[in-house]
Amino acid sequence: MTHDEPVPKKAPDIADEMAEPPKETASRRDWMFMVGTAVNVAAGLLLLVPLAGYVFSSFVQHKDPRDWISLGSLDDYPEKTTRLATYRNPFTRPWDGKTADIPCWVRRLSGNQFQVFAINCAHLGCPVRWFQPSGLFMCPCHGGVYYEDGSRASGPPPRGLFQYDYKVENGELWVKGGEMPTLANPV
Ligand code: FES
Repeated sequence: MTHDEPVPKKAPDIADEMAEPPKETASRRDWMFMVGTAVNVAAGLLLLVPLAGYVFSSFVQHKDPRDWISLGSLDDYPEKTTRLATYRNPFTRPWDGKTADIPCWVRRLSGNQFQVFAINCAHLGCPVRWFQPSGLFMCPCHGGVYYEDGSRASGPPPRGLFQYDYKVENGELWVKGGEMPTLANPV
Protein backbone atom coordinates (compact mmCIF):
# COMPACT_ATOMS: atom_id res chain seq x y z
CA MET A 1 0.00 0.00 0.00
CA THR A 2 1.35 3.40 -0.99
CA HIS A 3 0.82 6.65 0.91
CA ASP A 4 -1.57 7.90 -1.76
CA GLU A 5 -4.13 5.09 -1.31
CA PRO A 6 -7.17 5.95 0.89
CA VAL A 7 -7.24 4.28 4.23
CA PRO A 8 -10.26 1.87 4.46
CA LYS A 9 -12.89 2.89 6.99
CA LYS A 10 -12.92 0.73 10.09
CA ALA A 11 -16.17 -1.25 10.51
CA PRO A 12 -18.08 -0.34 13.73
CA ASP A 13 -17.26 -2.68 16.53
CA ILE A 14 -20.55 -4.35 17.64
CA ALA A 15 -19.08 -5.35 20.99
CA ASP A 16 -18.22 -1.70 21.72
CA GLU A 17 -21.78 -0.53 20.89
CA MET A 18 -23.38 -3.11 23.21
CA ALA A 19 -21.02 -2.43 26.05
CA GLU A 20 -21.80 1.26 26.37
CA PRO A 21 -25.33 2.48 25.44
CA PRO A 22 -25.69 6.00 24.17
CA LYS A 23 -25.62 8.54 26.98
CA GLU A 24 -29.05 9.96 26.13
CA THR A 25 -30.82 6.56 26.46
CA ALA A 26 -29.20 5.89 29.82
CA SER A 27 -30.30 9.22 31.32
CA ARG A 28 -33.91 8.71 30.15
CA ARG A 29 -33.95 5.29 31.78
CA ASP A 30 -32.62 6.77 35.04
CA TRP A 31 -35.32 9.41 34.97
CA MET A 32 -38.08 6.83 34.39
CA PHE A 33 -36.69 4.73 37.23
CA MET A 34 -36.77 7.71 39.58
CA VAL A 35 -40.35 8.58 38.63
CA GLY A 36 -41.45 4.96 39.11
CA THR A 37 -39.76 4.81 42.50
CA ALA A 38 -41.37 8.08 43.59
CA VAL A 39 -44.83 6.84 42.55
CA ASN A 40 -44.34 3.59 44.46
CA VAL A 41 -43.14 5.41 47.58
CA ALA A 42 -46.11 7.82 47.42
CA ALA A 43 -48.57 4.92 47.02
CA GLY A 44 -46.94 3.13 49.96
CA LEU A 45 -47.24 6.22 52.16
CA LEU A 46 -50.90 6.65 51.20
CA LEU A 47 -51.59 3.07 52.24
CA LEU A 48 -49.84 3.68 55.54
CA VAL A 49 -52.12 6.61 56.53
CA PRO A 50 -55.25 4.54 57.41
CA LEU A 51 -53.09 1.84 58.96
CA ALA A 52 -51.35 4.39 61.20
CA GLY A 53 -54.71 5.97 62.05
CA TYR A 54 -56.06 2.58 63.11
CA VAL A 55 -53.01 1.79 65.25
CA PHE A 56 -52.76 5.19 66.94
CA SER A 57 -56.50 5.67 67.47
CA SER A 58 -56.34 3.28 70.42
CA PHE A 59 -53.95 5.71 72.16
CA VAL A 60 -56.16 8.75 71.60
CA GLN A 61 -58.62 9.51 74.38
CA HIS A 62 -62.09 9.74 72.85
CA LYS A 63 -64.30 12.53 74.04
CA ASP A 64 -67.45 11.47 75.85
CA PRO A 65 -70.31 12.11 73.36
CA ARG A 66 -72.62 12.98 76.28
CA ASP A 67 -72.91 15.90 78.64
CA TRP A 68 -75.07 17.02 81.55
CA ILE A 69 -78.16 18.90 80.43
CA SER A 70 -80.88 20.45 82.56
CA LEU A 71 -84.43 19.21 82.01
CA GLY A 72 -85.82 22.03 84.11
CA SER A 73 -87.27 22.41 87.57
CA LEU A 74 -88.30 19.39 89.65
CA ASP A 75 -91.72 21.05 89.96
CA ASP A 76 -92.33 20.25 86.27
CA TYR A 77 -92.45 16.56 87.16
CA PRO A 78 -95.13 15.59 89.66
CA GLU A 79 -94.58 12.39 91.58
CA LYS A 80 -95.95 9.14 90.12
CA THR A 81 -96.28 10.59 86.67
CA THR A 82 -94.48 10.11 83.36
CA ARG A 83 -93.96 13.18 81.19
CA LEU A 84 -92.34 14.01 77.93
CA ALA A 85 -89.34 16.35 78.15
CA THR A 86 -87.02 17.71 75.48
CA TYR A 87 -83.41 18.74 75.64
CA ARG A 88 -81.11 20.32 73.11
CA ASN A 89 -78.32 17.97 72.02
CA PRO A 90 -75.10 19.65 73.23
CA PHE A 91 -73.14 18.27 70.26
CA THR A 92 -75.10 19.89 67.46
CA ARG A 93 -74.02 21.74 64.37
CA PRO A 94 -75.77 24.94 63.32
CA TRP A 95 -77.53 23.19 60.43
CA ASP A 96 -79.07 20.45 62.64
CA GLY A 97 -82.09 22.64 63.35
CA LYS A 98 -85.01 20.92 65.07
CA THR A 99 -83.40 17.49 64.75
CA ALA A 100 -81.12 18.47 67.62
CA ASP A 101 -84.11 18.69 69.99
CA ILE A 102 -84.14 15.31 71.68
CA PRO A 103 -87.29 14.09 73.44
CA CYS A 104 -87.18 11.72 76.39
CA TRP A 105 -89.66 10.30 78.90
CA VAL A 106 -89.27 11.36 82.54
CA ARG A 107 -90.85 9.20 85.22
CA ARG A 108 -90.80 10.60 88.74
CA LEU A 109 -91.31 7.91 91.33
CA SER A 110 -91.00 10.00 94.50
CA GLY A 111 -88.75 12.76 95.84
CA ASN A 112 -85.49 12.65 93.92
CA GLN A 113 -86.11 9.18 92.51
CA PHE A 114 -86.47 9.34 88.72
CA GLN A 115 -86.20 7.25 85.61
CA VAL A 116 -85.37 9.04 82.37
CA PHE A 117 -85.95 6.95 79.26
CA ALA A 118 -84.61 7.53 75.78
CA ILE A 119 -87.54 7.88 73.43
CA ASN A 120 -86.14 5.53 70.82
CA CYS A 121 -87.32 1.92 70.86
CA ALA A 122 -84.64 -0.65 71.63
CA HIS A 123 -85.64 -2.60 68.51
CA LEU A 124 -85.05 -0.28 65.54
CA GLY A 125 -85.26 3.14 67.15
CA CYS A 126 -88.83 4.33 66.49
CA PRO A 127 -90.12 6.83 69.07
CA VAL A 128 -92.17 5.10 71.74
CA ARG A 129 -95.32 6.66 73.25
CA TRP A 130 -96.56 6.59 76.82
CA PHE A 131 -100.15 5.51 77.48
CA GLN A 132 -101.17 6.54 80.98
CA PRO A 133 -104.44 4.48 81.17
CA SER A 134 -102.63 1.20 80.45
CA GLY A 135 -99.36 2.23 82.09
CA LEU A 136 -97.39 1.08 79.05
CA PHE A 137 -94.95 2.48 76.52
CA MET A 138 -95.83 1.34 73.01
CA CYS A 139 -93.88 1.43 69.80
CA PRO A 140 -95.88 2.24 66.65
CA CYS A 141 -93.52 0.47 64.27
CA HIS A 142 -93.60 -3.24 65.11
CA GLY A 143 -95.71 -3.43 68.24
CA GLY A 144 -92.98 -3.37 70.87
CA VAL A 145 -94.40 -2.82 74.38
CA TYR A 146 -92.65 -1.77 77.59
CA TYR A 147 -93.86 -1.56 81.18
CA GLU A 148 -93.90 1.76 83.03
CA ASP A 149 -90.46 1.04 84.53
CA GLY A 150 -89.07 0.66 81.00
CA SER A 151 -88.64 -3.10 81.09
CA ARG A 152 -89.66 -5.06 78.01
CA ALA A 153 -93.24 -6.39 78.03
CA SER A 154 -93.63 -7.91 74.55
CA GLY A 155 -92.78 -7.62 70.88
CA PRO A 156 -89.48 -7.63 69.03
CA PRO A 157 -87.35 -5.33 71.28
CA PRO A 158 -84.53 -7.44 72.73
CA ARG A 159 -84.36 -5.39 75.96
CA GLY A 160 -86.02 -2.62 77.93
CA LEU A 161 -85.88 1.07 77.11
CA PHE A 162 -82.52 2.79 77.33
CA GLN A 163 -82.17 4.95 80.42
CA TYR A 164 -80.16 8.12 80.89
CA ASP A 165 -77.97 8.79 83.90
CA TYR A 166 -79.54 11.60 85.89
CA LYS A 167 -78.87 13.80 88.90
CA VAL A 168 -80.76 16.40 90.91
CA GLU A 169 -78.96 19.68 91.48
CA ASN A 170 -80.17 23.12 92.58
CA GLY A 171 -83.79 22.06 92.31
CA GLU A 172 -83.36 20.90 88.70
CA LEU A 173 -83.29 17.52 87.01
CA TRP A 174 -80.19 16.88 84.89
CA VAL A 175 -79.58 14.09 82.40
CA LYS A 176 -76.41 12.98 80.68
CA GLY A 177 -77.59 13.18 77.12
CA GLY A 178 -76.22 13.54 73.63
CA GLU A 179 -75.50 10.60 71.38
CA MET A 180 -78.54 8.44 70.60
CA PRO A 181 -78.37 5.16 72.54
CA THR A 182 -78.18 1.93 70.57
CA LEU A 183 -77.78 -1.75 71.41
CA ALA A 184 -74.05 -1.48 70.71
CA ASN A 185 -73.69 1.76 72.63
CA PRO A 186 -76.38 2.14 75.32
CA VAL A 187 -76.46 5.38 77.30
S1 FES B 1 -88.85 -0.23 66.27
FE1 FES B 1 -90.08 -0.56 68.02
S2 FES B 1 -90.77 -2.56 67.80
FE2 FES B 1 -89.54 -2.25 66.06
